[in-house]
Amino acid sequence: MSMRGVLRLAEVQMRVLDMADSKQHYGTRMGLHEMMTDDNGLVYFKAWAEHDHHSLVLRETDQAGLDHIAFKVYDDATLDDLEKSIIDFGIEVERVDAGVYPKSGRRLKFILPTGHEMHLFAEKEQVGNSLGTLNPDVIPDDDVCRGFRINGLDHVFIVGPDADQNLKLFTEVFEFSYTERVIDGEGNTVLFFVSCSSRAHDIAFGVNPNPGLIHHVSFRLENSQDHIRAADLIGKYEIPVEMNDRHGVTQVKTVYYFDPSGNRNEVFCDGYTYYPDMPLLTWTMDELGHAAFSQSLHVPESFLGVYT
Ligand SMILES: [Fe+2]
Repeated sequence: MSMRGVLRLAEVQMRVLDMADSKQHYGTRMGLHEMMTDDNGLVYFKAWAEHDHHSLVLRETDQAGLDHIAFKVYDDATLDDLEKSIIDFGIEVERVDAGVYPKSGRRLKFILPTGHEMHLFAEKEQVGNSLGTLNPDVIPDDDVCRGFRINGLDHVFIVGPDADQNLKLFTEVFEFSYTERVIDGEGNTVLFFVSCSSRAHDIAFGVNPNPGLIHHVSFRLENSQDHIRAADLIGKYEIPVEMNDRHGVTQVKTVYYFDPSGNRNEVFCDGYTYYPDMPLLTWTMDELGHAAFSQSLHVPESFLGVYT
């Protein structure tokens, strides 16, 4: 890993039931910055520390869930290389011209084995993070880092059939590292965690008979003080909380809660620094308490059964 190739999860487009409620949740309360509304009514947000124009897109419709995920790659030549590799893997790739997705360069669009729409792109308009690039500030002005004090979009946990094929695609074609897994009593892997960075995961896959579902979209916090603040605000606003605990898997301090449409969100801090020479970590289902929530050892039924 020298941070070339696929860089990071850079955009998630979520379906929401009511845009006004959703703008209050993701904007006013979580503190993401609303950047624009396009001609189709989609609303675009960024976290304060991100340079790209947006990382979260909301589309109002009658069913919650995930429209697409998009990863940013290092440069345009990477897109050419990956297009060939994805096709060789056996997945059809659609080329999407620059500008079709607002503020974005050209994209590759395809369907993952788990049934999720995924894009790759190399260019998106950069608007900066308010600190400047010449002798930059260390902290932003007041009201820039606000609400839950989210630094950035981090990862998604998606579920569907053929999650093992997602693993193969991400490790063999996109050159992610396989960092952690959960295996069932028969030795079958049911949860897969992979990384393209120094974090323990940039995306995770779960086995589920239904394609295209999302378990959660996750946002990164700077530190545990911000984690406490986010949890306090979740209480203040009476946002439905599922768990406030620590994951054994990835070792992050986490809060799971739901947006007004029933989409599961996560904010987290901490977690270990990953390097590609680290061994794969394995958890067994009979120790799921330690794997999932290592403080309470309690796994709510909803955590294993609610997807959008
Ligand atoms: Fe997560």
